[in-house]
Formats: sequence, structure tokens, C-alpha cells
Amino acid sequence: MSNLDTHLWWQKDIVYQIYPRSYKDNDGDGIGDLPGIMEKLDYIKELGVKVIWISPIYPSPMADFGYDVSDYTEIHPMFGTMEDFVRLLEEIHQRDMKLILDFVPNHSSSEHPWFLESRKSKDNPKRDWYIWKDPKPDGSEPNNWLSVFGGSGWEFDEKTGQYYYHAFLKEQPDLNWRNPEVQEAMLNNMRFWLDKGVDGFRVDVMWHMIKDDQFRDNPPNPDYTENMSPYDKHLQAYTTDQPEVHEIVNKMRKVMDDYDERVMIGEIYLPVERLVKYYGENNEGTHLPFNFQLVLLPWKAREIEAAINKYEGVLPANGWPNWVLGNHDNARVASRVGREQAKNAVMLLLTLRGTPTMYYGDEIGMENVFIPHDKVQDPQEKNIPGKGLNRDPERTPMQWNDLENAGFTNGEPWLPLMDNFKEVNVKNQEENPKSMLNFQKRLIRLRNSEPALHVGEYVPVSSAGNLLSYIRKYSDKEFLVVLNLGNSEETMDPDISGYRALVKISNYPEIENREISGKFSIKPNQGLIAELK
Ligand code: GLC
Ligand code: MG
Repeated sequence: MSNLDTHLWWQKDIVYQIYPRSYKDNDGDGIGDLPGIMEKLDYIKELGVKVIWISPIYPSPMADFGYDVSDYTEIHPMFGTMEDFVRLLEEIHQRDMKLILDFVPNHSSSEHPWFLESRKSKDNPKRDWYIWKDPKPDGSEPNNWLSVFGGSGWEFDEKTGQYYYHAFLKEQPDLNWRNPEVQEAMLNNMRFWLDKGVDGFRVDVMWHMIKDDQFRDNPPNPDYTENMSPYDKHLQAYTTDQPEVHEIVNKMRKVMDDYDERVMIGEIYLPVERLVKYYGENNEGTHLPFNFQLVLLPWKAREIEAAINKYEGVLPANGWPNWVLGNHDNARVASRVGREQAKNAVMLLLTLRGTPTMYYGDEIGMENVFIPHDKVQDPQEKNIPGKGLNRDPERTPMQWNDLENAGFTNGEPWLPLMDNFKEVNVKNQEENPKSMLNFQKRLIRLRNSEPALHVGEYVPVSSAGNLLSYIRKYSDKEFLVVLNLGNSEETMDPDISGYRALVKISNYPEIENREISGKFSIKPNQGLIAELK
């Protein structure tokens, strides 16, 4: 890498998300923990990813598995102690890696001392820290706002005769970010972890943080159909993505900027034109508004190509792109796109321009796990059953080896394991040079060693049918990526006169180190990355 390069770690390196309940259990309670993650740091380092994001590890009643925080500056005893955390952070830094924590500012747990105060009386000093409203004259909810997790977004509180708003569970009351005291208290919670040395935050539901101050009803969604979540009955015109949210994001960003080279990633599910607004005026918003298009789009070459080009087109000057392939809220990529396409999916993720985020277990091709009715944990499925909204299938324990419980725990795992874990596990795949794991390690190594692939320009290459193709380019080095997203043979005819290229990596390893030129044929589900000569 030339020393003229000014890209920062969070632009170059790969983010790896750990869902801590499911990574590695050290104390035998069936739930993953910080000492468990500590045991696996060398594995993660060896994989080649350098940034670890851990989903919430704070004290929580676990109504939404940690996204209901009852203390923003402590560690849940189930995950370990503050000493464990400090040691984990040190060990990560010693390995020249970074740690990003999840920050959940939109709502706290209903057990948070702030909310316990707030609900005591209408004149409690913390009353206005949450969103309280009088009933309508007939006693009904103040307006039609719905909860993402089913039913009304308003919960009536007998004691004080008012409703409070919760965009998610009633155990997750929304904080009132219009209140300057809330802002200061929450910004201090960020400073607490930044002072400890964490390298950044993934900010939960950033686009939810401010709601309409006139509390207007949301309009109906003309595209709603019965198979959708009841939340989709409305367009979220007044509950999310309000103009004033950008002032809040900017205040959070200023906190980050008081420290050296930290990163703020925003969880935001919005169409790209609105998404990119979260970079902020002059890039004074969030560093990376999560781009979920690869998670949401159908696996079709033309649609993905159009999405990439559009995203590249709407990014603000100096706004750094990013791509996500999976997370704890969406189906496993191998289940979504199919096993045959799983390697193409990761080739795409790791060669697009922008910071990639990988989800634990995808490196060995873990799939959605069927969860029998009586084992369901996810509150979203419990509240809105039978609509395919269960998030447990993508949250199952990491498959480390072929021993009992896949080496995840000595106890009873909190979610069932995939029944294929005897074959699909880290140990097996480490031993098999052709495994998904070794394929991804080689791919990550190639990406990390080639500036063209991590910071280079993106140049579209015209292709047709199921083919997706582009070039990544940095100074005099260029790589051609060709992916067949379909299951029939195709012909690739790049519009590059007289080129010759050497295949560096492919899911058909027999073509590696071969030269391609002119028109060439691409097998079903085949993908390749070739260096142009
Ligand atoms: C985010 C989290 C999700 C959680 C929700 C409410 O979308 O990723 O897991 O349920 O916020 O906090
Ligand atoms: Mg444990």
C-alpha cells in the first residue's frame, strides 16, 4: 500500500458481526459470552477480518435479546464482567484489530432506572425523558402509530393515565431525544465507552430517533398486503426519518470527533436517496449509514447491477460506501441465495467498493435453522406468528466442530443447532482446502493485499443475462470481477479491447491461474476475480 494512501481503517477493513449469545459459551450456561469470544480471537484474526462488532452486551431483561438496555455503562453478568470486557478490548487491540459496540439510543428497557422514574408521576423530573401523551377523549391511543413488533405503538399506563410510545416492544419505551437532558445523558454514555477505548459504535435504528412533534397519524400504505407485517399497514411518514434526526446524528458525530479515528455506523433501512442523507451535510453525519441492498434485493444480476450503479451515483462527495450481506435480523445469506450462490455472494461483498460487513457463521456457510414452535425465542415471531418474521433461524450457535453442541457449549444451547453441524463446522472446514472457510480466507487475503480491491475505483463492465461484472482499479492495477448469478452457462464478452487477465480466485478452482481473454464461457453459478495484464 502506498503511503500516499489516506484511507482510514474503517474504510479498508472488513467488519465482522458477532451475535454474542451465539458465538461461544465459556461458562456452560448455554449462552455465548465475552470469555467465549476471547477464546476465538485468534480464529477471527486468522480469518483476516480486522474489525469486530458485537451486538449489545449491556445489562438487559432480554425482552429483545439485549436491544432493551437497562444500564448503558455496564456489562450483563451473563456475558461477563467489566474486567472481562477490558481484557477483551486489550486482546483485540494487541492483535491490531478494532472493536465496535452496539449502541441503542432510540429506546431503553422499561426496567431502566430512567423509565422507572419517568412512569412514577406526571411531574417526575424524568417524565419528559420518554414520550408520554394523553388518551383521546374516548380513552383510545393518542394516534394511529404502530409497533414494529405488532399492535399499537402506545401502551397505557394505569397509574398516571397516559400512554407512552414504543416503536418496538412495550418493554422498549422510546426515549425523547428532543429533550436536551436526554441528549446529554446519552452522549455521555457514548463517551463512557470511547474513554475505555472502543473504536466505534453501530447505532441501532438511527432513523427512528426523532418523531413528528405534532404527532400526526401515519397514512395508509397503498401497497400493503395480508402477508406483510401489520406494521406495514402504514407508511412511516411521521414516526421515522424526520428532518430533525440529522441534528441528533450530528451531535453524536461531534462526540466521536472528539476522539481519534473512531467510527459511527448507522442502522438505517431506507431507500438509498434518503439513506445517503445520513452522511450529513459536508459528511458531518454518520460515517457509514448501513447499506442493506444486498440483503433486501432479489438475487438478480440486472437488479443488483442497477442498485450498485444507483448507489455509486447518489453517494455524496467523500461519502464512503459500505455493503452488508447478512445480520441478526435477516435470513442467512446461504439460505437466501442458495448454497450454489453462496460463494458468489461473498465474492460480490468483498469486491464491491466500500466497507463490507460479514455476519458470524456465514464464513462456513451456515444456513437458517428450522425452529420448532415450542423453541421460538424471538419476540417478533411470538407477537406476529406465521409471517416468516422469526429471526431465531439466523441467530443459532456457531458451529465450531463435530462434537456435542458443535463445541459451542457444554450446557443446553439457548437455540437449537443446525442438524448439519457434523459436516458444516469450522474444524472440518479448516482441514479441507476446498471448503467455504478456506475459500473465504483466500478471498479475504487477496482483498486485504490489493489496494485495488479495498480502496480502488469501481468501473462497471457491461454484461447481460445473469452475469454481473465490473473492474476495480488502483494506480496501474486492475481486477475484473465476473459473477454468474444464474444456474445456466453464459458467455462473457467484456468490452475491453485486447485484454488478457489471470484468474486469481474462483469457486471453480480449476480455472485459477489460467489466463482469460476475449470472449469466454462462464459455468452455472461460477464467479471469478482476474487480474488484468
Ligand atoms: C434493530 C436491531 C434489532 C432490534 C431492533 C430494536 O433493528 O437490529 O435486532 O430488535 O433494532 O432494538
Ligand atoms: Mg455463557
